[in-house]
Amino acid sequence: MDKLVVSGGRRLDGTVAISGAKNAALPILAASLLTADTLEVSNLPTLHDVGTMLRLLERMGTTVERDDGRVRLRADAIASLEASYDLVKTMRASILVLGPMLARFGEARVSLPGGCAIGQRPVDQHIKGLQAMGASITIEQGYLLAKVERAGGRLKGARIVTDMVTVTGTENLMMAATLAEGTTVIENAAREPEIVDLADVLIAMGARVAGAGTDRIVVEGIETLHGASHAVMPDRIETGTFLCAAAATVSRHGGEVVVRGARPRTLDAVLDKLREAGVTLDCDHDSIRVRANGHALVGANVRTSEYPAFPTDMQAQFMALDCVASGTNRITETIFENRFMHVQELSRLGASIEIEGNTAIVKGVPRLSGANVMATDLRASAGLVIAALVADGDTTIDRIYHLDRGYQSMETKLTALGATIRRVAGRPSC
Ligand code: UD1
Repeated sequence: MDKLVVSGGRRLDGTVAISGAKNAALPILAASLLTADTLEVSNLPTLHDVGTMLRLLERMGTTVERDDGRVRLRADAIASLEASYDLVKTMRASILVLGPMLARFGEARVSLPGGCAIGQRPVDQHIKGLQAMGASITIEQGYLLAKVERAGGRLKGARIVTDMVTVTGTENLMMAATLAEGTTVIENAAREPEIVDLADVLIAMGARVAGAGTDRIVVEGIETLHGASHAVMPDRIETGTFLCAAAATVSRHGGEVVVRGARPRTLDAVLDKLREAGVTLDCDHDSIRVRANGHALVGANVRTSEYPAFPTDMQAQFMALDCVASGTNRITETIFENRFMHVQELSRLGASIEIEGNTAIVKGVPRLSGANVMATDLRASAGLVIAALVADGDTTIDRIYHLDRGYQSMETKLTALGATIRRVAGRPSC
């Protein structure tokens, strides 16, 4: 398994370009199953998870043509309606093929994802919504067996009120509804920008979707969708991660970092918290500049919640920032029950953090010092990279495959900004 070795204490300076958003790309790729025509997707990030989704679609019979950052998908000869355990276990978002398959083919067999490092993450809301639309769903040998028993095998529109706000749940139901008979209303829908990006693709494919970005999405089903082409929105979590990395280093060593190709208006809560923490930011419509202001960071309290509030996917990175700020700050995680696994690893670098229930109390320390640490999940890995960038000496981060799932060329981008960071190929693990 590869490791990253970060020599901390370097000044970061320069411009970094943001890639396409993983969490927008995955549902958009799954949406290709809704039509026999070609869906062309550009600004596609080069990530393990994107590779997994493309492999899954290919196994089903989709023709996938790739060239640099662009893919053409044609699902006109689907031979298998199955998402098997070996792929689903490596990427929970594989569940996103369930809605489209059921909508277009009236049938699907998708492995249950199971738990993951950050919590249980059930898919009961996806199931509940599809059942309301007329699907019968049973679980056999770890697989969801879904079938539309109605004549013609077509889902029917329904009013669905989800028990909690779920991002991929909303996406699955929105995709399924595009080909259903009649109108579907999704109440308590997630409002994440990635849902709006997916809705834009569906609309470009001919679907009738209204209200994406609000908590009430209305989809009027039609019989067929056609091809389209779409550029994936910029990754707001990658943007926020680089802002935290820049803020942590700039406040100590000076420098100036510009994050380019971003969409600042999708990051209001993160930008507000960074400013509250003492970071100077200048935004225009597609870039954000982080500058030193001669003051130490003071940190900020954070409470994760659904969009537009502070994202759980930025919690670990912001915690790394609070670790080296001057005050004592509280970070409360409300979305996932086990998303503090990075706390132990940050403590190995000298951070002072206590956990009380779902709140981490972070007391800023004047310095962190390099150590061997272990990445436990995708965003935790990013938090460790940020801490390592400001720690004295070398930090070796093991299990970096987590980072590769969701960040395109992170070490290359950081190196271009002046960080000293290298990948060390590890032996394959047993
Ligand atoms: C998506 C994102 C992930 C992000 C998360 C929360 C993708 C591919 N992944 O994950 O990066 O961290 O949103 O912003 O977009 N829940 C249930 N039953 C369900 C569905 C969800 O109990 O059927 C619970 C989950 O366990 C969790 C909460 O609802 O506690 C929110 O989860 P959800 O929004 O569904 O997360 P994902 O869509 O899996």
